[in-house]
Amino acid sequence: MKKDIFRKDRKKQHIEEYLKSNFKNTTMFEYIYIEHNSLPELNFDEIDTSTKFLGKNVDYPIMINAITGGGEFSREINRDLSYLAKKYNIPMAVGSQTIALENLETQDSFKIVRETMGNEGVVIANLSGHASLDEIQYAMELIDGDAIQIHLNPAQELAMKEGDRNFKGILNNIEKIVLNIEKPIIVKEVGFGICKNVAERLYEIGVRYIDISGVGGTNFIEIENRRNDEIDFKDLYSWGIPTALALIKCRSISKDLNIISSGGIKTSLDIFKSLVLGANMVGISGELLKYLVKDGFEASDKYLGDLIYKLKMLMLLTGSKNLNELVQVPYKITGELKDLL
Ligand SMILES: Cc1cc2nc3c(=O)[nH]c(=O)nc-3n(C[C@H](O)[C@H](O)[C@H](O)COP(=O)(O)O)c2cc1C
Repeated sequence: MKKDIFRKDRKKQHIEEYLKSNFKNTTMFEYIYIEHNSLPELNFDEIDTSTKFLGKNVDYPIMINAITGGGEFSREINRDLSYLAKKYNIPMAVGSQTIALENLETQDSFKIVRETMGNEGVVIANLSGHASLDEIQYAMELIDGDAIQIHLNPAQELAMKEGDRNFKGILNNIEKIVLNIEKPIIVKEVGFGICKNVAERLYEIGVRYIDISGVGGTNFIEIENRRNDEIDFKDLYSWGIPTALALIKCRSISKDLNIISSGGIKTSLDIFKSLVLGANMVGISGELLKYLVKDGFEASDKYLGDLIYKLKMLMLLTGSKNLNELVQVPYKITGELKDLL
């Protein structure tokens, strides 16, 4: 019981610290150059952004990525986020459900997402790489999940005073999950990026969905540092793989690996460039949370609506009628990103 009260507090502190932050790292999407086409011969109203994700039709290749769950505060956030997911018919992942395994009272803060989104919506469960098969079943059943995200967050845990210190056996555990759980398994980072070698090891054991969640947005070393009075982690604030770099490297592994581009996605250009680089879906967490909690539901609704308008605008300006055509758009990799590749 004490542990889950602690976890509930931590969830709230993460959001509070996130909202106070002003992260400095870059996604490196600024090094992707795409040419403007002033003769696209397209009608804006015919631009088709729909796609299939986890077996269901969604209207846009944008998802609300894992953020929260737990107490009343988290329930309200999940309620509002799931209204948005329903309104735009886009997928939504809940935050880590470990708290719901320890404290049944927190179940509602997760269940509300499926209740709001109905059967047609894409709802994704979330647990850590240590989760047992029973725990995965439970988390999935709670929200009738279309898939489960398994988060890998060693950098965050090590910066957290009360965090995990043992990361052995996680790959084997994920393999067991892949072999025994019917629904798709998405393995994700939390903002430090998945490198090509890790993605290949995951692919070899059967994982077909990877959320690279790279550097450029939410920085959990920084968030945890503000909660940790023992060690100062400021010198590690730049640690991790920028989102554009992780995306390009992981994309080269295989066509049947579904890649979710996330980490520092804020603008329509970030979304558009992710898709041009071959992402199957693009995830947003921090930026949407900021609009919702700081400016209110209407502001977060407007933020998403504007993003969508501008995504369609960029599709038109590159002559892309749909997402299949968008992937064919030529691009150039420049500057530091080119050097790193
Ligand atoms: C307040 C907050 C809480 C988060 N909690 C979780 C979580 O419980 N599980 C998880 O897999 N990722 C969690 N994340 C990480 C996000 O899903 C995402 O991977 C990361 O924030 C990078 O994306 P962003 O830059 O758009 O925020 C959280 C992010 C934020 C901002």
